[in-house]
Amino acid sequence: MDNSFPYSRQLIKRDDINEVVKVLKSDYLTQGPNLKKLEVNFKKKVKSRYCLAVSSATAGLHLSCLSLDLKKGDYLWTVPNSFVASANCGLYCGAKIDFVDIDEFTFNVDINLLKKKLDKAKKKNKIPKVLVVVHMAGSPADVIQINKLRKKYNFKIIEDASHAIGASYNKSFKVGSCKWSDITVFSLHPVKIITSGEGGIITTNSKEIFNKIKSLRTHGILRDKNLLRKKNYGFWYYEQKYLGFNYRLSDIHAALGNSQLKKISKFVKKRNEIANYYKKKIKEKNILFQKLLKETYSSYHLFIIQFKKIKDEKIYNKLFEDFRRKKIMVNLHYLPIHLQPNYMKHGFKKGQFKVSENYAKKSLSIPIYPQLKKKELNYIIKIIKLLGKKYDLL
Ligand SMILES: Cc1ncc(COP(=O)(O)O)c(C=O)c1O
Repeated sequence: MDNSFPYSRQLIKRDDINEVVKVLKSDYLTQGPNLKKLEVNFKKKVKSRYCLAVSSATAGLHLSCLSLDLKKGDYLWTVPNSFVASANCGLYCGAKIDFVDIDEFTFNVDINLLKKKLDKAKKKNKIPKVLVVVHMAGSPADVIQINKLRKKYNFKIIEDASHAIGASYNKSFKVGSCKWSDITVFSLHPVKIITSGEGGIITTNSKEIFNKIKSLRTHGILRDKNLLRKKNYGFWYYEQKYLGFNYRLSDIHAALGNSQLKKISKFVKKRNEIANYYKKKIKEKNILFQKLLKETYSSYHLFIIQFKKIKDEKIYNKLFEDFRRKKIMVNLHYLPIHLQPNYMKHGFKKGQFKVSENYAKKSLSIPIYPQLKKKELNYIIKIIKLLGKKYDLL
């Protein structure tokens, strides 16, 4: 690694490497004991009834939509301020996508706008089948309120918790418990809280959803005798019930995931310490931070700062470049999904979701990961203030 500071990065130690090497020397490189172990240990951590590991969160979101029978003619709603995967999963199933804008302070779905949009949709008989709720930067969205709307309007909730491993809604429930949703999906990509190289985790409390995703993960094949149409054949017998995929996680990846799983609390605690340090040291009134909901605990996959005074794209670009010149590899999370060419061709336009659009003009993700040292944090804070002053943004 060069001496720059990325916005996030993995932390791999000797014990992680040893676990992966063990698998390479074993009989099972895929679908071995590590996958099972990862699923059992993860569901224990978040207290869900079922858990499935897959090849990525993207695969997890796709399979989740399929398990809820999302198809052509249905609607999937999500927020514009997310990674494209939160919406793409609906397109994979042939569904139409629509968006609900974010709240300007929490950066998560705006519950009032959601209510209004559901009311309108009900009149037109266009209630979405699925709402993908994103926990932006690891900060839990208000799923308790959203669940009330789910009951009133009758839709399904998939939590896109790609950022939120180790986050909690309150003292009793962790993200992933699916207490107020149908399915939760996590990412194990290296920039996330813990990693398996590539990987995703799905949790649910529904046996039906679990069985369907388990089958879809491996070509739509069933082997469980109770689920087969013909029950009187031998061990060798299987049936393909659905058109599924190969979205399996290899045992090599799962071994790394297992080793990292033990470190979730430690990593998230460290990320919280860094976030609190930034908040303590950056008191400038024109720099805003994400507002967390009461009782929630964020995993702080990202630490976002917003320069309220940026009016002009040119200043944003200059600021971005200056940070990078100083080796601080800031990033934007996210360019609004509805403004991507692949979504504009479905009719979305600039100006449709103004809060997300405005957010993208002023926000930057600054470095946050467990191995950052105080000296490095002080350097990053110094540069934020220096550049803020340079562009008259403080
Ligand atoms: C909000 C969100 N959803 C989904 C994904 C997709 O995750 P993966 O790379 O594991 O497929 C990401 C990855 O960055 C993400 O940030």
